[in-house]
Amino acid sequence: MTSSEIILAVSHLKVSYDSIQAVDDISFEVGKGEIVTLIGANGAGKSSILRAISGLIPYSGSITYAEKDLKNIAADQIVAAGIAQVPEGRGIFGNLTVMENLKIATWQNKDKEKIAKDFENVFSLFPRLKERSKQQGGMLSGGEQQMLAVGRALMTDAPMLLLDEPSMGLSPVLVRDIFKIIQDINRAGKTILLVEQNANMSLHIAQRGYVLETGRIVLSGTGKELTGNPRVKEAYLGG
Ligand SMILES: Nc1ncnc2c1ncn2[C@@H]1O[C@H](COP(=O)(O)OP(=O)(O)OP(=O)(O)O)[C@@H](O)[C@H]1O
Ligand SMILES: [Mg+2]
Repeated sequence: MTSSEIILAVSHLKVSYDSIQAVDDISFEVGKGEIVTLIGANGAGKSSILRAISGLIPYSGSITYAEKDLKNIAADQIVAAGIAQVPEGRGIFGNLTVMENLKIATWQNKDKEKIAKDFENVFSLFPRLKERSKQQGGMLSGGEQQMLAVGRALMTDAPMLLLDEPSMGLSPVLVRDIFKIIQDINRAGKTILLVEQNANMSLHIAQRGYVLETGRIVLSGTGKELTGNPRVKEAYLGG
C-alpha cells in the first residue's frame, strides 16, 4: 500500500449469523488519510464488516485502530477511540429535530466553541440542513436524512468515518454532491472507509478498493486499477 501509516487493520475477520457465514476470513487495511472503498453486491458482507468494526456485532479475527485492539470494546468507546459510523438506512432520530440530532453526536465534547464551529462546518457543507434545522428528522426527505446522518458523524470529531452506502436512494445530482462532500471531508483530514454499491463513483474517489463476493475479498487494488479491471467492469460498472 502507498500510505505510510496503517490506521485501521482488519485481520482474518469472520462474522456469522446462526448458520450464515456473512464474512469469511477477510483481511484489509486502511492507511491514515486514505479513502478506501469496499464494493460488492447485495449480501456480500459489507455492512457486517462495518458493524464489526463499530463493535455492534460479535466476530472472530482481529480489528485494530491506531494499534488499539477493538475487540470487546463497547460501541460508544469505539466512537471515543476515533471511529464514527454512518449506518445503512441512516439511523437518525425521527422525533428529534435536525439540531437535536446533530447535538447528540457532541456528547463527548465539552468545548462549546468547538461545538459551535462544528455546527458551522456541517451547515456550510449542507446548507439544506441549516434551512431545516428545526424540523423533525423523520419529516426530512430521504436525501436530507442522508445528509443529516453524515453531518452527525462529522459532529463526533472522530478522525475516521465508516460510511455505509451514503449514496443510497439519492438522485443523480445529490449522488454527485455527496461524493464531492466525501472527498472534501477526506481532504480536510478524515480517513474514510466507504462501503458502496455505486462502484463507479466510489472507485473514482478512493485511493484503494476491495471487491467482496459472498464474504470474501476477490480483488483489490488502487481505484484506477479496479476501474480498469475487466471483471469489475463486467460485474459492477455495467460492462
Ligand atoms: N442480523 C442478521 N441475521 C441473519 N443474517 C444476516 C443478518 N445481517 C446480515 N445477514 C446476512 O449476512 C449476509 C451479509 O449481509 P450484509 O448486510 O453484511 O451485506 P451487504 O454487503 O451489506 O449487503 P447490502 O448491499 O444489501 O447492504 C447476507 O446474506 C445477509 O442476509
Ligand atoms: Mg449493507
